Amino acid sequence: MAGNWKMYKTPAETTSFFEKFRPLVERSEHCEIVICPPFTNLAAAVAAAQGARIGIGAQNLYWAKEGAFTGEVSAPMIVASGCTHVIVGHSERRQYFGETDETVLKRTVAALDAGLTPIVCVGERLEQRESGQTEAVLVVQFQKGIAPLSPEQFARIVVAYEPVWAIGTGKTATPEIAADAHRVLRGQVRTRYGQAAADAVRILYGGSVKPDNARILMAQPEIDGVLVGGASLDANSFANIVNF
Ligand code: PGA
Repeated sequence: MAGNWKMYKTPAETTSFFEKFRPLVERSEHCEIVICPPFTNLAAAVAAAQGARIGIGAQNLYWAKEGAFTGEVSAPMIVASGCTHVIVGHSERRQYFGETDETVLKRTVAALDAGLTPIVCVGERLEQRESGQTEAVLVVQFQKGIAPLSPEQFARIVVAYEPVWAIGTGKTATPEIAADAHRVLRGQVRTRYGQAAADAVRILYGGSVKPDNARILMAQPEIDGVLVGGASLDANSFANIVNF
C-alpha cells in the first residue's frame, strides 16, 4: 500500500502526519506500507517512521550517481536519506516533465543499482482508452520501459498501473477495468520472464483510490496493492485504505 504525496506537505506537516498515522497502522501486518513525500520531507519522514513498518520512498530520481545536473537527485542520495523505495515514470512525470519509456528504464536501473525498490508506473491516457489502444499502450510501455531488465532486476521491482484518466479526477477505474489491465501486464511478464515471475510480481492499481473503494479494488485477485495520491495525505484516510 503506497502513498504518493506529490507536491504536498512541509516537514512539520510530515511529522504530524506520522504521529497520527503510526498508531492507526501499528497492527497492519498484512501488507507493506510505503509513503513517498517530496524530497524536502524525506529526512523528516524517515525520522518520523523510525521503528515502524513503514518504508519511505522518493517520487523521482536521476540516473547519474552525481554530477553537474542542477536540480536533480540521485539514487545513492535517496538511499543515504534512509529511503527504501522510489516511484519511477509516474504519469505526471511523463506528461509534464518529458519522461519517456527510455528514461523510465534508466531511472529504474539506477534505482536498482543503488538498492532501492522502484515502483514503476504505466498507464494509458483517456484518448488512448477511448480509441481502443489501452492494451497496445501498456504493451509498448512494458516492452520499452521494463522488459529490457534482466530477470534478477525485474524480480526487485513493483509495477503500478495508473490509468491517467483516473488520477486525481475522482474517476476510479472499475475493479474489472483495472483487473483487465493488470492481466495484460501480467501476461507480458509471463511471456518475458516466465510463470513464476508473473505469479510473484506485485502490480498496484492507482487512480482515485479512496477508503470507500479500496476494498472492492483489493477484492480483485489481480490487484496486489494500491498507489494512492490524494487520499494518502490524510492519516485517517490512508490508514483506512491500508486496513481495507
Ligand atoms: P490519486 O493519485 O489517488 O490522487 O488519483 C494517484 C497517483 O497519481 O499516484
